Amino acid sequence: MERVIIDCDPGIDDSLAIMLALKSPEIEVIGITIVAGNSPVELGFMNAKRILKFLGRLDIPVYAGADKPRIRDYVNALDTHGEDGLGESFLPEVEGQNVPEKSAVEFMKETLREGDVSVIALGPLTNLARLIDEDTDAFLLIKRLVSMGGNFKSHGNCSPVAEYNYWEDPDSARLVFNTLYEHHRKIEMVGLDVTRKIVLTPEILDEMKMVNPQVGDFVEKITGFYFKFHWEWEHIRGCVINDPLAVAQFINPEILKGFEAYTDVETSGISMGQTVVDSCGFYRKESNAIVFTEVDKSAFWSMFITRVLNIETSKYAERFGQYCKL
Ligand code: BDR
Ligand code: CA
Repeated sequence: MERVIIDCDPGIDDSLAIMLALKSPEIEVIGITIVAGNSPVELGFMNAKRILKFLGRLDIPVYAGADKPRIRDYVNALDTHGEDGLGESFLPEVEGQNVPEKSAVEFMKETLREGDVSVIALGPLTNLARLIDEDTDAFLLIKRLVSMGGNFKSHGNCSPVAEYNYWEDPDSARLVFNTLYEHHRKIEMVGLDVTRKIVLTPEILDEMKMVNPQVGDFVEKITGFYFKFHWEWEHIRGCVINDPLAVAQFINPEILKGFEAYTDVETSGISMGQTVVDSCGFYRKESNAIVFTEVDKSAFWSMFITRVLNIETSKYAERFGQYCKL
């Protein structure tokens, strides 16, 4: 079992990612750390608790982290995720859950120093940049760093060229990429090129509700708002669920394919937040990123649906196969 910290900003798709992670026997989630992103950090903390309560896993510790980006002003994504950050599902608050005194970065430092711990980052990279500031050695102990963020050929979702997580805090993203470069390490970048291909359609959701009404109804409750947003902005039926793909890739590295390249993040101007991927080797620099471009959609949906709904793989093939090839 791989020990993992999930650093996130829940967030509708962060919540789906947490659901997948906690139903996966290959990983042990030793803690969830929250960063300001989709939701302000206090709201993200409460939402993580709400998801853990639904999953009956309030034993997993949650730590609050950065409440704003490194340099620029904070811009949340509640327009996409609803005013409660969970698709306006307005789930009840989990009682008696105070924010622990230990910060997200302190927790990361302590546990990373124990060794053999990976990080799946599903939000802006502000907590990780703070970790670099405070304890670069602990940051470098991260076994695998998988980050949902960035884009190569795909257009962005905050500007023509920038994806939200890196656009919201480009300075932290740049520090993470640059530090990895200096130390000959690599980030696994699960960007929009692959996540855009993971669309939770109304058909898949209907089947989910029929097969496991408790989980299906919950997923419907938190994704309804996201469906509307995607229709209005992109004319997509359903919603793109970015973050669970990073968890799936952590569990099964065969799900995504890509290439290694030196990558940097623009921090200002018209292309702020853009990942500049040197796929042609112009800079003659060692690669610091694995940039994914292809996804085995069927393998993703098979993993996601069977685990989140607690069904056998054979039943998945019968009921969901037709939708998941789309
Ligand atoms: C990323 O930004 C957020 O809206 C999602 O949770 C995901 O992490 C996609 O750009
Ligand atoms: Ca997220």
